[in-house]
Amino acid sequence: MNVTLYMAVSANGFIARSDDSTPWSDEEWSAFLSEVNSVGNMIIGRRTYEKIASDTGFGEYGDATVVVVSHALSAGDITGITFVSSPEEALHFFEDKGFSEALIAGGATLNASFLKAGLVDRLVLDVEPRLLGSGFRLFSGEVPERDLRLDEVRNLSDQSVQLRYSVVK
Ligand SMILES: NC(=O)c1ccc[n+]([C@@H]2O[C@H](COP(=O)([O-])OP(=O)(O)OC[C@H]3O[C@@H](n4cnc5c(N)ncnc54)[C@H](OP(=O)(O)O)[C@@H]3O)[C@@H](O)[C@H]2O)c1
Repeated sequence: MNVTLYMAVSANGFIARSDDSTPWSDEEWSAFLSEVNSVGNMIIGRRTYEKIASDTGFGEYGDATVVVVSHALSAGDITGITFVSSPEEALHFFEDKGFSEALIAGGATLNASFLKAGLVDRLVLDVEPRLLGSGFRLFSGEVPERDLRLDEVRNLSDQSVQLRYSVVK
């Protein structure tokens, strides 16, 4: 299973403000949705799930299979969404479904869980032209140091770039 962690980040490394809002560009949003549709799935943490559910809902994600990692919520809480209790369980679920790729889509706590478990193969960062004052960083808390290899740089617009890395193992 090839696992990609995909995040929009401010130029100073925040993925959201303290109030959970995310001031990212339309180009970034389109690039993210296109990656989700291409992979066909995404894994999100319980707080990110609740934010999407209360903001836009999951309609924009089309046919993508959505898995939420949570100890507090469980299967049956909402139709069309699968709840699991660990990163490993999320990947087993996708393997059983025949996927060879999985996309981690935040937030900070879930990102750290996958990295600490050694389950991230690739990192895609859409770097937005903004400095945020406070909020959520790419990874919550302390994470192990990792070397990355820069595989590709894409321009999302004349203001935003996408950095595509492999995690050196
Ligand atoms: N910039 C971006 O691209 C982007 C993308 C997504 C989200 N975000 C932002 O990220 C913020 C949310 O991040 P967050 O760190 O607060 O929340 P989060 O990572 O979305 O969710 C945290 C929750 O996920 C569950 N979880 C995480 N790791 C787990 C593990 N190993 N085993 C079981 N459950 C696990 C736990 O749920 P339970 O408490 O239910 O056990 C935990 O409380 C929001 O502000 C959102 O806007 C930004």
